[in-house]
Amino acid sequence: MPNSNVLIIESNGTRADIITSAMQFMGFFPQRWDASLPTDSMTHDWRAVYIGGIEDETLCDQLLASLEVPVEQLLVLVGSDSPQLERLTKGGSSHAAQIEVLDFPLRYERLAEAMRRAPTLRTQSNPAPLRLVGNSTAMGRVNALIRQVSPFDSSVLVLGESGTGKEMVARAIHDCSPRRDKPFVAINCGAIPAELLESELFGHEKGAFTGAISTRKGRFEMAEGGTLFLDEIGDMSLPMQVKLLRVLQERMYERVGSNRTQRCDVRIIAATHRNLEVATAEGRFREDLYYRLSVFPLEMPSLREHLDDMPELITEFNQRLQRRGLNSVRFSGSAMQSLRQHNWPGNVRELSNLVERLAILYPNSEVRASDLPEKYRGTQPIEETGGSVVRAMLDGQSKTAPAHNRHLMDAEVLLPEGGVDLKDHLADIEVGLIRQALDITDGVVAHAAKLLHMQRTTLVEKLRKYGLQSACRSNDPAAESGTAVA
Ligand SMILES: Nc1ncnc2c1ncn2[C@@H]1O[C@H](COP(=O)(O)OP(=O)(O)OP(=O)(O)O)[C@@H](O)[C@H]1O
Ligand SMILES: [Mg+2]
Repeated sequence: MPNSNVLIIESNGTRADIITSAMQFMGFFPQRWDASLPTDSMTHDWRAVYIGGIEDETLCDQLLASLEVPVEQLLVLVGSDSPQLERLTKGGSSHAAQIEVLDFPLRYERLAEAMRRAPTLRTQSNPAPLRLVGNSTAMGRVNALIRQVSPFDSSVLVLGESGTGKEMVARAIHDCSPRRDKPFVAINCGAIPAELLESELFGHEKGAFTGAISTRKGRFEMAEGGTLFLDEIGDMSLPMQVKLLRVLQERMYERVGSNRTQRCDVRIIAATHRNLEVATAEGRFREDLYYRLSVFPLEMPSLREHLDDMPELITEFNQRLQRRGLNSVRFSGSAMQSLRQHNWPGNVRELSNLVERLAILYPNSEVRASDLPEKYRGTQPIEETGGSVVRAMLDGQSKTAPAHNRHLMDAEVLLPEGGVDLKDHLADIEVGLIRQALDITDGVVAHAAKLLHMQRTTLVEKLRKYGLQSACRSNDPAAESGTAVA
């Protein structure tokens, strides 16, 4: 049995079970806190702790200390209604920068997103580096810029919408640079309260402010010789921008509460999804800092601008799932076509989350267009038309509607430029219509068969073929796989 790596502190049994199962599913090794079990680092490999219903502040602090993990290497997940939330997130708490707040009912996607921040997990439990993939013209340009700028110490400003891969690019520049064997330290300037950011960046001396119980290194010091990634730089307060500018100009800083000046040798890569030129014009971002940071600007394309990379990105995300011991998922031609029509406001991260979600719903199987969550189905004229046929039948318009819909089908179903896998496409339509018929008839197979003008036995065969038994009523014999057809 491997060492536990996530400690669950939760008095509510149901919630503890939910978190524990979700963590196990993601490939972590959770341990529920129990006073009789040790929590020291000799017997465990702590990466994260979940804090829920625990009233005793002293016990909570003792437990965190007993993990013997440096504060910056421990992700702290806190339930949004935990009695400890306010205390742990307020200024002065040494854990504030590493906190992720979780709402209940728990969303798997949210938990997975939060766990990706577990600091050392990336390098220790998951040693395979994440690959920046993409052969499209747009990504080719990004790769060329990475190669050009990496060997130098120039500051880089990575721009682009949320989820386009800005942090990945920052890591890629570091990994291709002569500093690759030194630390890459990231800090999200937008997520840390303004009053804490200074001490996070520059460190503090013991007693520098209430709550500074010991001397602590800042991110500049941790990144010495390597690269400091200042994420969401556009969210930094103006007073903090002044302090950062000084370090960039003089390469010197002081810890909070100290007057000893320290030199630093750190390459700066900054990123933001904001338009800094507008922010500068509006006086929210200092012009001098903007010019210092944007010596080498690098604009990330939105996913809409490199849809051709989608198959390769999906392969990469499947491989990441497999490395975490999870299942992967495939997409049919028509599903891929639908995905190309989506707008992707969340860019590559949205695609990565979708792959993970579908891999849970359809483990090691093929996802068809009709299996996609509704907003990803795009404009599937055939399925939509089919749906209206069923609805029209249900509305008792079966005498007039089908002719009208046949007309719609003729008019709307255009052969895509690259052709279509007809068998696959027709199967998609079939699955879509069967699902709708089952939805409408509340999962009663006999009624759905009537709606689809087919024998019940034929429908049962199709349900088996497409693995749709779960869409039937649980007391319908068709819901049981392998049931003899009546
Ligand atoms: N070209 C790519 N190849 C492989 N994975 C990618 C690529 N681009 C982005 N990703 C993945 O997409 C997710 C989001 O990437 P990243 O965190 O770098 O984006 P971001 O632009 O920093 O987002 P945000 O603005 O929200 O902070 C990550 O899981 C990352 O691994
Ligand atoms: Mg980012």
